[in-house]
Amino acid sequence: MAIEWTSSGLDLHLDWARGTGQGLADAIRQAVRDGRLAAGTRLPSTRALAADLDVARGTVTRAYAELTAEGYLRSRQGAPTVVAELSQPLPETPPQRPWPPMGHEWRWNLLPGRPDTTLFPSTNWLAATRRALAGMTAADLNYGNALGHAGLRAELADYLGRVRGVAAVPDRVAVCSGYSQALGLLAGVLRAEGARSIAFEDPSLPECRQVVIAAGLDVVGVPVDERGLRVDALAALLAGPDAPAAVVVTAAHQYPLGATLHPHRRAELVELARATGTLVIEDDYDGEFRFDRQPVGALQAMAPDLVVYAGTASKTLAPGLRLSWLVLPERLIEPMRTAKFFADRHNGVIEQLTFAQLLRSGHYDQHVRRCRTRYRRRRDRVVDTLTAVGARFDPAGIAAGLHVVALLGDGVPEPAVLARAARRSIGVEGLGRCWLGGADGDRPHPAGIVIGYAAPPEHAFGPALRALADVLSEEMS
Ligand SMILES: Cc1ncc(COP(=O)(O)O)c(C=O)c1O
Repeated sequence: MAIEWTSSGLDLHLDWARGTGQGLADAIRQAVRDGRLAAGTRLPSTRALAADLDVARGTVTRAYAELTAEGYLRSRQGAPTVVAELSQPLPETPPQRPWPPMGHEWRWNLLPGRPDTTLFPSTNWLAATRRALAGMTAADLNYGNALGHAGLRAELADYLGRVRGVAAVPDRVAVCSGYSQALGLLAGVLRAEGARSIAFEDPSLPECRQVVIAAGLDVVGVPVDERGLRVDALAALLAGPDAPAAVVVTAAHQYPLGATLHPHRRAELVELARATGTLVIEDDYDGEFRFDRQPVGALQAMAPDLVVYAGTASKTLAPGLRLSWLVLPERLIEPMRTAKFFADRHNGVIEQLTFAQLLRSGHYDQHVRRCRTRYRRRRDRVVDTLTAVGARFDPAGIAAGLHVVALLGDGVPEPAVLARAARRSIGVEGLGRCWLGGADGDRPHPAGIVIGYAAPPEHAFGPALRALADVLSEEMS
C-alpha cells in the first residue's frame, strides 16, 4: 500500500504494507537508496511517525534500529535520527515489483529468445527417458555431484568440442538450471571474491543484467559496433578505478544487434583479459543456429583458463527445461560446485540422464538441424516482408539465431510501433530496453524492434508476420 508520510514537515511517499515492521524498514531503506531521503535528512521522532502512520511506536522503533544497524540511519541518544551518508554507492536493487511482469498471452507471439516449442522432439525425449531409467542405478537417485551427473558432463564435453569447438573436459562442465542460474551463481562467486561489477555489451539482454544486479553487483556497459564488442572501450574501463571483474560477451551472435565478434577483436579481448586478469563470460545462447555458413567456434577455446563458456537448451529444445551448461576455468570449479550446492544441490538427475541419452543417440543433433532449416526460412521471410514495408536490417547482423532487429528509420518512434503492435496482440520487443540507460540514455539510439521469428508454431508464423508488416506499414507510411 502506498502511504504519504507528512509529519515534521517531511513529505514522503512510501510503498509500505501497513502492519509489518519489516515492511516499514524496507520502505524507508528504498527511499534512502532512491535518493528520496537525502543524507542528513532529519526523520520524525518515533512517537510522531507512529502517530502519523497510525501504528504502534514499537514498530517504528524497530524499523529505525534495524536501519541504524545497517548503516542507513544515524541515531544518537537525545538527538534526532538522521539519514546517514552512504559510504559507497549501493548497487541498483532488483525492482520491488514482480520481475518480469507476469506473462501476457499474445495472439501472435514474435518475442525474441524463444524457440518453436511445438518442434520439441517428444518421441525421442520419451525414448531417451526410457533408456535413462533403464540404465539408472539406485545411487544415481541419491544426492549427486552439484556440478552434474558424470554421464551428462561427459556427453556435453564431447558435444561442445565437436559442435562449438569448445576446449572441454568433463570435469570442467557444470550443469545448471538455465543460463540465468549459471550467471547468477557466477556473479555470486565473483562477489565473494571481492568483485563490485560486471561489464555487459551495450546493448544486451536486460534480464541477464538484472540477474547480476540481483546477485549484488553493479553492471557497466561497453559499446558494440559492427565488429561486436568495442575492446578498446573495455580496455579503458579496465584501466579506470572500479574496473569490472568480468565481461559478458555474446561473441558468436551479439544480442540483440547480431554482429559476430571480429577475429581481431577476439584476439584483442583474450589478450586484454590475460593482461588484466578479467574473466570473460561467453554467452553462446544460440551458437548452433548459424544459417549462412559454419558458425564461428567458441572464443573459449582460445583461453580456457580465462573464459567461461555458457550454453543453454532454452533455444535448441525448450526454455521450460531449465537446462544449461558451463565450461569453467579450473579455478572456478570448486567455488561453483559450492554455489550450485547451496542453490539447489544439483539439477534433477532424470532429466540430466535423459538429455545425455538424447545427445548420445544423435537425436539432439538431428533436432537442431531440423530447427535450423525452419528458422533459416523464417528469417528470410521476415527480412523480405518487412523490407518491403520500409524496415531496415543492419548488414552487420549475421544470418543466425532466433531473432532479428528491424530498424525503424528516422521519425518512427519505437513506442508507437510497440503500442500499435500490442493493440493487435502481437508480442515483439523494443530495442530501446536493451540499452543500459534505456532508450532515453545519454547516447542517441536507433529505434528498432527485436523480432523472435522462431517463437510461433509453423501455422501461426505467416499470419503473425503479416500482422506485424501491417503495423509497420501503418506506422512508417
Ligand atoms: C542473450 C541470451 N542469453 C541467454 C539466454 C538463456 O537464458 P536461459 O538459459 O536462462 O533460458 C537467453 C534467453 O533468452 C538470451 O536471450
